Order: sequence, then structure tokens, then C-alpha cells
Amino acid sequence: MPLVLASTRADLSALLAPRRARDERVGLVCTMGAMHEGHASLMRRTRAEIGADAPLVVSLFVNPLQFGPAEDLDRYPRTFETDRELCASEGVDVLFAPSVEEVYPGGTPQVTVDPGPLGSVLEGKTRPGHYAGVLTVVAKLFGLVRPDVTVFGEKDYQQLTLVRRMSEDLCLGVEVLGGETVREPDGLALSSRNRYLDEEQRVTATALSRALRAAQAASSDGYAAALAAAHEELGRSPGVDLDYLVIRAPDLSELAPDESAVPPRTHAGTHARALVAAKVGTTRLIDNLPLVLGAQAG
Ligand code: PAF
Repeated sequence: MPLVLASTRADLSALLAPRRARDERVGLVCTMGAMHEGHASLMRRTRAEIGADAPLVVSLFVNPLQFGPAEDLDRYPRTFETDRELCASEGVDVLFAPSVEEVYPGGTPQVTVDPGPLGSVLEGKTRPGHYAGVLTVVAKLFGLVRPDVTVFGEKDYQQLTLVRRMSEDLCLGVEVLGGETVREPDGLALSSRNRYLDEEQRVTATALSRALRAAQAASSDGYAAALAAAHEELGRSPGVDLDYLVIRAPDLSELAPDESAVPPRTHAGTHARALVAAKVGTTRLIDNLPLVLGAQAG
């Protein structure tokens, strides 16, 4: 089926109602546009989950609610034509691109989604209110599209974790899956923000993924060794202005003290996530990788 553009709730529901009546699974990928190969991989993963003939919806909406007063909403890249071409080439059925008035008809919503304690740490500490804005619009998109499954990029691991929690805690009935981060050959995670890096900063930015790889390489020696290896790698890159570098449990809770201490090694080890955020020039970048702490070789 060729790509269809929907810009109103009414268009969207007219397109999806017959598909739902046939019991087809609806898949959703939420975006703010400025799409790249990372978004394409989320579309492919969602397609694989719902099957070749089921409706795949991509939303394109630059959500004002998740931008802080110091963050420039108007500067956010808008590349509608190339986004539309990418959706068409990935076999997307519906591109839902509503206006701000369509999503927030009464202006700023009175009722919003509270992300809880996880919303005010890590990214949420630097960007107060950001995850409340994200969860509120995602809840609205879930309500409008009523997807069975959605795939969020692991690149914003905190966002993925919060959306998954929201769907579980509020019984929204949407299966939330994580899509692996797509990287440049030199390790840099794809991001719409990479376009703001000049040539030298682009090279400096690879320090983030190198630091995470160093943590992975040292992780069998435990938490402290993994963290130290990552810091050592970042220390070699003078242009990186570090905000945080942490190792957390996979659900982003703090690791229990015995898990973060020097290991008693176990065969399986402890699953964890290393996360980093830093500014390179004026561009804030984030990245993360999974770790297994204290696993015994062989
Ligand atoms: O990750 C994004 O692009 C946005 O935060 C999202 C999930 C589309 C909500 O506006």
C-alpha cells in the first residue's frame, strides 16, 4: 500500500478503523522528524513485529511540551519532504503529521503524565519537565493511534525505560520494545543533533562510544573497573564537557551496593547499563551500552 499522509485525528481514525476491524496488529514509531537511518531501523523492526500486511504508522510531531524555555523549539530541524520519502521507502502505511492545534486543541493540557523519580535524574536533571512532556505526547499518540506494538530507540534509553514503565504502570496495553542504536562506522551513535557538529567536534564526539566500549571491555572486573576505564577514555578527549557517566541497573535504578562492589564473580554476572551525556561544543550528546558486570569467563 502506498504511503498515506494523515494530519487530523479524523483522517487517522478513518484510515485505521477498517484495519482494526480485520484484527490487524497496528505498529507505531513516534518521531519528531529529521529522520535518519536510526528511525528507519525502528520502522523495520516494527514491521517485523506486526507482519508484512499490517498497518505501520509513523508519527511526525515536534512536541512543544518537551522543550524547556532555554531550548530552541524553532531551531529544531524540520525536513518534511525527506522524512516523507524515507517513510515511503520503508513501506510505512500512514505518516501521521498533525499540527500543534490538532494534538493540543485546548492549548497546554491541564492533565499531564508524571514520570515519577526517574523523570528528574540523568537527562531529566538537565532538562526539567522534559520527560513529562515526552510521556504526555506519547500517551496522546497511543490514544490516537491505539497501537499494539511500538519500538523506541535505545539511544535515548531513559525515554525508552519511561515509556515502557508508563505503558505497564498505566495499563495502556501497548507492547514497548527497544530498537538497537544505529552507529556510524567509527562508533558515533546516529542522532538528529550530529548535524550541529563541525568536523573537529564530530571526531571528538566519538569519545563517548569509545568510553562505553572501554567500560564493556573492563566489565568482567566489576563496576569500579568499568567506570574507571570509561573515565580514562574520556580523559583522553579534551573537547568533551562531561555531564554524567553512570552505571545503572537495566531499569535505571541504582545498583545494589553488592552489585557495584568488586565482584564475587558469578558465571552470569550482573546485567547493567552504562550511560553517558556530554557537550561537544554547544551540542549535547547522549549514548549508552549494556554491560555484564563481574561475569566469569568460560
Ligand atoms: O524521541 C523523540 O523523537 C521524541 O521524544 C518522541 C518520542 C517522538 C516524543 O515527542
